[in-house]
Order: sequence, then structure tokens, then C-alpha cells
Amino acid sequence: CGIVGYCGPKKVVPVILEGLRRLEYRGYDSAGLVYLQDGKIVKHRANGKLSCLEDVVGDDLVAPSHLGLGHTRWATHGAPTMENAHPHSDCTGELVLVHNGIIENYHSLREELRAKGHVFTSETDTEVLAHLIEEYLEQDAHGVDVLVRAIKEALARVEGSYALGVMWAKAPETLIAVRNQSPLVLGIGEEKGMFLASDTPALLPYTRKVIFLDDMEIAVLTADDYQIASLVSGEPVDKEITFIDWSASMAEKGGYKHFMLKEIFEQPQAITNTVAGRINLESGKANLPNLGFSDEQLRDIDRIFLVACGTSWHAAMVAKYWLEKYAKIPVQVDIASEFRYRHLLIDERVLTICISQSGETADTLAGIRRAKKMGSKILTICNVVGSTMTREADGVIYTHAGPEIGVASTKAFTAQLSALLLFTVFLGQKRKQLSLEKSLQLGRALVGVATVIEEILPSLQKKIASLIDDYYDSRDFLFIGRGLSFPIALEGALKLKEISYIHAEGYASGELKHGPIALIDRDMPILALVPDDDVYQKSISNVEEIKARQGRLILIGSEGDSQLANISDDVIYLPRVDDDVNPILYTIPAQLLSYEIATRRGCDVDQPRNLAKSVTVE
Ligand code: G6P
Repeated sequence: CGIVGYCGPKKVVPVILEGLRRLEYRGYDSAGLVYLQDGKIVKHRANGKLSCLEDVVGDDLVAPSHLGLGHTRWATHGAPTMENAHPHSDCTGELVLVHNGIIENYHSLREELRAKGHVFTSETDTEVLAHLIEEYLEQDAHGVDVLVRAIKEALARVEGSYALGVMWAKAPETLIAVRNQSPLVLGIGEEKGMFLASDTPALLPYTRKVIFLDDMEIAVLTADDYQIASLVSGEPVDKEITFIDWSASMAEKGGYKHFMLKEIFEQPQAITNTVAGRINLESGKANLPNLGFSDEQLRDIDRIFLVACGTSWHAAMVAKYWLEKYAKIPVQVDIASEFRYRHLLIDERVLTICISQSGETADTLAGIRRAKKMGSKILTICNVVGSTMTREADGVIYTHAGPEIGVASTKAFTAQLSALLLFTVFLGQKRKQLSLEKSLQLGRALVGVATVIEEILPSLQKKIASLIDDYYDSRDFLFIGRGLSFPIALEGALKLKEISYIHAEGYASGELKHGPIALIDRDMPILALVPDDDVYQKSISNVEEIKARQGRLILIGSEGDSQLANISDDVIYLPRVDDDVNPILYTIPAQLLSYEIATRRGCDVDQPRNLAKSVTVE
């Protein structure tokens, strides 16, 4: 979910709607906003996308109000309906709040509050918070101190995660923001005015000066001041102000039809920016100056755990091949939601690397917290400066992909791969396992692949668009690859199912014969990644097995490999690059295929159904 709040000289409704628009990637099944006008609370909510809320708001867009909150929802408790949309209110309607997170003990709290006469109008866990705070508000009292005290008392009884924005008609100058395990950032207006939001893109049109709240902190915001304190002790906390160097226009479509397409085309830049200055292209020396680990620490680790979710998990799978080959260290890859609860054998000689575009994914965050408790050092590979995972890690490598808005991750993924290959080179050097000569080759390959992608993108898109007539109405799809191409097959399948709703599976080519080969018929296209690499012959044998069973094959392989045309229905040729950067290059056609098929099917590629870009709940 996404939260926005504002108090200051501007009219509040447009500020909130603009903020929500920029946070819609966090959830978009319903939306709502609330503001204070002449001492009265005015609330609008709508089921469906933000445009539905805009319709409901109508002429109130210009309401003379200067304090309000907004929310865009990704349903956890209760279906996406108008009643379940935030903001939620107490019985009086004077206390209103928006929430991102999950209140785990909401059931028992709701029963308790019901017994005391509270009437609930939604099925959400959030509404319990409004009523619980109401319980602790002194009768006939008013003012910010009363509100803060009630919030603290209420939250002391709450189990779960929350980023909260609260307002009360009886403290009409103030917004309250509270954070526990769900992200929340404050924006300091250029002249006057204070903002709060789940993520920085909502603030970019107004300010670059932000403060990231930490867990168990409460902020009291007025038009020209802010105070941040510990939720538990009440002691004021001094917070650092961070300057964000993303511009507002970086989060716009810039002439492209969809964010996803724009972000696919931004990949050469994202890779270049991620690599720039981090490897010397004369000597091969890798340079990660602010990594946060001493050489000795890096030499002492004896295992690496890679932890991530979704697309980032696929990046982790590729990195395992690289790290084992070049840094010669055992690597285990885990899905964060499994990692966080399984029996871990971790000690201080383990380096845990979390990979996350947002730096806020709840499962990944919980995973690294657990590993840290067990003595592991933590490295975060992340795209969002100042996000929670970057703050909780011992070291950070930023991917410089710029803001990624499309829900299906594209440029963040290839930037993650670039950062992971860089780190492999760096670690290989520190552990004296990798020569400068090989490092130089890998560094140049990384820089080179960005140029190759830049050159082929327009023609590749055309080629793929011309192929999809035969495939766009398929019900199922299989993606296969071997070695470094296996995770890319998984990523290709994920992209297709995410945005086109076609059932797609990714498989290791060699595993096909152990089951999935039974599925093969003319109705299920199989996309096989067959670069001319060290497992090429094996991959071709697997493709032949499919061909022998009349499978429908799209092959993606190396320029000049003429035999591919004979064994496939369609073939897409890619330039030959260094084997190790093939995963970066071979990702591109898979992304474009999904994009072209999804748009052809009329799907909303930037905001696919049921998904959210940043999943900050478990
Ligand atoms: C969500 C998104 C995916 C993303 C995953 C992990 O499920 O829809 O695109 O890969 O979260 O996100 P992260 O920000 O941790 O990389």
C-alpha cells in the first residue's frame, strides 16, 4: 500500500492525488483521501484505480484545505471494496488514519472493542487501530498532546507492522506519522510544508530533502515544523536529512506508452551507471570504496547466502554461478519467505547478501534481520537510497537504475546482475582467486553489453512484435535454459505470467525430461535460450528432444548459429558477447516478448492485476 500526507500552504487535495499517482505501483485496488476543511473531516474513497477516486473527488480538488492524508491499497484483509478502502475512522468520524502493514492481533482487539460498543464498517485490520486510539482519547479533550498519548497507548497493545498517518479534527494543525516495520519517509518542503509518504517518488515534485523514519519512531508534523521521538520512551530523536538525487521527471513516462517499455529501453544506461567508476577498464581493478567491509572480513567469510524475492531472487541465482566460479566460495540461494523461517546454519563467517530493488520487501528484510542476529554480516544490493535494507546492512552496493515504476521489474534486474558481477570480481580479487586479466575481461564485457543492448533494442522490439501473432493467445508457455540461462528462463516465465496472465513456467533444460516433457504439444510454445556457451551442445540436445515430440519452439541464440533455424519454428538471434554477460543480454528479448504479448492482449502492463511492486507485508 502507499501512504501520502501533507500539511502546509498548498491546497492539499492535488498534492495527495499527485503523491498517490506516484505510489500507485505499491497497490492499486482501491484508494482514498481525507482532509480537514473548516474544522470538519471530509473523506472520499473509491474502489478501483486512482482515476476512480479522482472522479469521486470531482470539484473538491480545489477545496481550501491544507492538511490531509491519502492511501492507495493492496488488499491484505478484506476484499478490495469502497468500504475497505482507507482512510478509516473511529466512531465519531473525527479521528482518521491510513495504514500500510498488517495488524496481527486485530481479531482479538476488534472483539474487545465491539464488546465496548464500537461499530465497525469494514473488514480491515486497519479500522481496529482507529477505534483503539479512540478508546484512549480523553473525553472532550483536544490538542496534539492528547492525540500523541492516545496513539502511544493504543500502539503498545498492537502486534504487527505499521506505517501510519493519523489526523484528528481536534488537533487541526497536525499530522502524526508512526513507523514500525513498514516504510515511511518525511519530506521537508522547500519553504514551508511537511510531507509524509511510503516512498520517495511521492515527494519528488515537491522536495528532495527527506528523513527516513526508523522502526518505533513517531513524528509530529505541522506546516512549519517536525518533531521525531521514540514511540517507547518518548525521547526526541535526532535524524539525518538525506538529499535524493532523483528528479521528478525520472519518474515520468517521457514519451513511452508504458513505464515498462521506457524502463526496458533505459537498461543500457542503468547498467552503465551501475558499473561506472567501479572497475578500472585499464587495470581490471574493482573498486567498491564504501562497501563497509575490511579486506580481512572479506577473506574470512566461508559461505555466502543470497536472499531475495521475485525477480531479485532470479538475480541471486545467476550470481551463484558467478561467485562460485570466480570468487570460489560456496553460495546458497534462498527465497526470503523460506529463509526467514527455516533452520539456518549461520555464524559469523557467513556473508548474507540481500538483493532488493525497493529495499523494503518485508520477507527479505526479516531474512537479513535473522541472519544478522545469528552473527552474519549483511550486504545489501539495492536501488533505493536510504531504504530500510540499506540502513540495516553492514555494507551496500547501490544499483543506479533510477526509479523503477512499472510493477514488473526490468532495468532493476539487469542493474542487479551488473552489480553482482562487479561484486564477484571485487570479491574474487580480495580473496586472490581472480586474476586482473580475467577481471579486466569481465569489466569490459559488462560495459560492452550495455552498448550492445543499446544498439539492438529498437530492431529487437520490431522483430519480436512481428512474431507474437502466433503466440499471443497461448494458454501456456514454457521457458527453458541451462547454466547461466536457467535463471533467465525463470525470469522470462515470471515476466510473462505477471503481465499477460498466461500460465508460464521456467525450467532447467536438462530437467525437462523428468516430467514437463509430458506437457509438450502444439498448443504450448517453448522458448529456449541457447547461447553458444559452454553448455551449448547439451542445450541443443534438450531442444532436439522437444523437436522430436513436435514441440513448438522459439529459440534465442547466437548470431551466425545457422542450425537454430532448422530446429525451431522461430528464432531470435543476439550478438555474441562474453559468456558471463549472456544472462544480461538474454533477459532483454524475454522482457520484450512479455511486453508485446501483454499489450497485444490488452493487459495493463504497468499495473497488472493483484500485484504490487513493493510488498511490505509478510
Ligand atoms: C514484488 C514485485 C516483484 C519484485 C519483488 C521483490 O513481488 O512485484 O517485481 O521482484 O516484489 O521486490 P524487491 O523490491 O525486494 O526487489
